[in-house]
Amino acid sequence: MAVGFTLLLLSGALLSGVLYHVTMHQQVQEKTSPRKPNFIIILADDIGWGDLGMNQAGNNHTPFLDLMALEGMRFTDFHSPASTCSPSRAAILTGRHGLRNGVTHNFAVGSIAGLPLNETTMAEVLKAAGYYTAMIGKWHLGHNGPYHPSHRGFDYYLGIPYSNDMGCTDSPGFDLPSCPPCDHDRLMYGKGYGRCFSKVALPLYENLSIVEQPLDLWTLAERYTQTAIRIIRSSRERGKPFFLYVALSHMHVPLSPGVPLAQEDPGLIYATSLREMDGLVGAIKNASDYYDKDNTLIWFTGDNGPWTQKCQFSGSVGPFLGKWQTDRGGGSAKRTTWEGGHRVPTVTYWPGKIPANTTSRALLSGLDIFPTVLSLAGVQAPSHRHYDGVDVTDVLLHRSKTGHKSLCHPNSGAAGQFGDLQTIRLGQYKAFYITGAADACGGGSGKQEVQNPPLIFNLSDDEEESSPLDSSSKEYAAVLEQVQTERDMILQDIAEDHVSHADYTVDPSVAPCCNPSHVTCRCQGGS
Ligand SMILES: *[C@@H]1O[C@H](CO)[C@@H](O)[C@H](O)[C@H]1NC(C)=O
Ligand SMILES: *[C@@H]1O[C@H](CO)[C@@H](O)[C@H](O)[C@H]1NC(C)=O
Ligand SMILES: *[C@@H]1O[C@H](CO)[C@@H](O)[C@H](O)[C@H]1NC(C)=O
Ligand SMILES: *[C@@H]1O[C@H](CO)[C@@H](O)[C@H](O)[C@H]1NC(C)=O
Ligand SMILES: *[C@@H]1O[C@H](CO)[C@@H](O)[C@H](O)[C@H]1NC(C)=O
Repeated sequence: MAVGFTLLLLSGALLSGVLYHVTMHQQVQEKTSPRKPNFIIILADDIGWGDLGMNQAGNNHTPFLDLMALEGMRFTDFHSPASTCSPSRAAILTGRHGLRNGVTHNFAVGSIAGLPLNETTMAEVLKAAGYYTAMIGKWHLGHNGPYHPSHRGFDYYLGIPYSNDMGCTDSPGFDLPSCPPCDHDRLMYGKGYGRCFSKVALPLYENLSIVEQPLDLWTLAERYTQTAIRIIRSSRERGKPFFLYVALSHMHVPLSPGVPLAQEDPGLIYATSLREMDGLVGAIKNASDYYDKDNTLIWFTGDNGPWTQKCQFSGSVGPFLGKWQTDRGGGSAKRTTWEGGHRVPTVTYWPGKIPANTTSRALLSGLDIFPTVLSLAGVQAPSHRHYDGVDVTDVLLHRSKTGHKSLCHPNSGAAGQFGDLQTIRLGQYKAFYITGAADACGGGSGKQEVQNPPLIFNLSDDEEESSPLDSSSKEYAAVLEQVQTERDMILQDIAEDHVSHADYTVDPSVAPCCNPSHVTCRCQGGS
């Protein structure tokens, strides 16, 4: 009896000794190498600066994002790197402009290539540094062969390879003009449905497989939400930090806000979609708060401004009306370098690290996400190339007000030389070397014009970009000289850089196709 008791005591002491040792060891490890943070980057599509309540009083469709701003940092002078999808996404994932990474306009359903393979994505760098990397949503950087996200650094992928209007579905969402369902009389497409993509149904990929074609637009948000929550929840089991890139379909047409609405309620349709998007962001934040609150940075931003041509189905540019242009026809919208085309709503959130309820007016860009995330993860960006983005950790965490001295807004519209440095921002000034506009709602588009001398707007007292500085004034001459110097420096730097070129060749046979024997590639037994 006595002997047994002693043994028991002894083993108990041994056991607690072992436990004690393990705990100590862990603590020492934590001290020497702190846990790397998780990153959740949420990119909204075609969202307007004025769509969020935090940016525009009176808009009350984004309570979760507004709360995130209250608990984090809101940005008022944050810009997408380009004014259309593919160039903006390529620049966010590489920290380099299209003039360097080669992606200067959008890829197509039949694009044989994508983001050049020797460009390095944020996912590739983080994966090599021990991160679990996942992407949900719209890729639009090439889907054929090695260009697919599963080959560009993502351990997991669920999403659409391009925009949600680039294929037919069985239950089309709201668009202008509205598009018919997949198996509609095909002859009709020639007559009035010219803008609709009809040949290939919209596919949903999981990793390298098409799991649904056509996909169900109306349940996509819920599917994305559940997948994001699962990835966040299972992070502990994996024992690795994670990088989650969520590229939403919202607010790009066709809108499919999950609840039945009548076409006659156009305002309600956009607002309901906005609420659905906001709810998705709220659910991601909630899961992140629940599982790893103090160790996760959430960064919400947009890929470009609203698609004004879609009228009631497009977002609000807020005060950034681009009046000089709209007075001459056309809109301040995506595809333009007017403020409405690239000034995007942006919020960052990291409890205990990013000061709560703060607003930053620093001049920043989506290009900065790459260097900042890498810096916070303590990993080096690949050398032998130059970057346009800057590490803005001090703005996020330490209240620094220093952003970019200057910022280029490349042409990513329909006409002209793609990638052109159309517009340059220097401090509060913005110089247009080329002006041009996207189609306005129901109106014409302003034609592209070279401006010599450039138009210079003072955004400090003219955020509407209505009246340029008098080009014969002393003030104009002084600003122009600085802008030219900055422009020459950037062009010189690009000339000396390793510059990649994307192959934009189209071959219809590479379109994603679940079942080539079906007329729109419909998956057999698919939903
Ligand atoms: C995708 O990859 C994940 C592993 O990251 C795996 O669990 C899942 O089953 C894969 N899905 C498909 C459809 O291959
Ligand atoms: C927040 O997340 C927790 C954990 O997943 C869940 O139990 C709860 O229902 C979520 N709340 C909301 C409002 O989504
Ligand atoms: C947030 O900041 C604003 C302006 O500085 C202030 O009026 C407001 O009370 C703050 N809200 C909270 C919840 O701290
Ligand atoms: C730009 O606007 C600011 C604010 O109104 C003003 O102080 C500044 O003088 C203006 N610059 C020029 C060149 O007009
Ligand atoms: C990628 O390869 C092309 C062709 O060899 C080259 O011109 C370019 O500089 C490379 N890009 C980078 C970032 O090294």
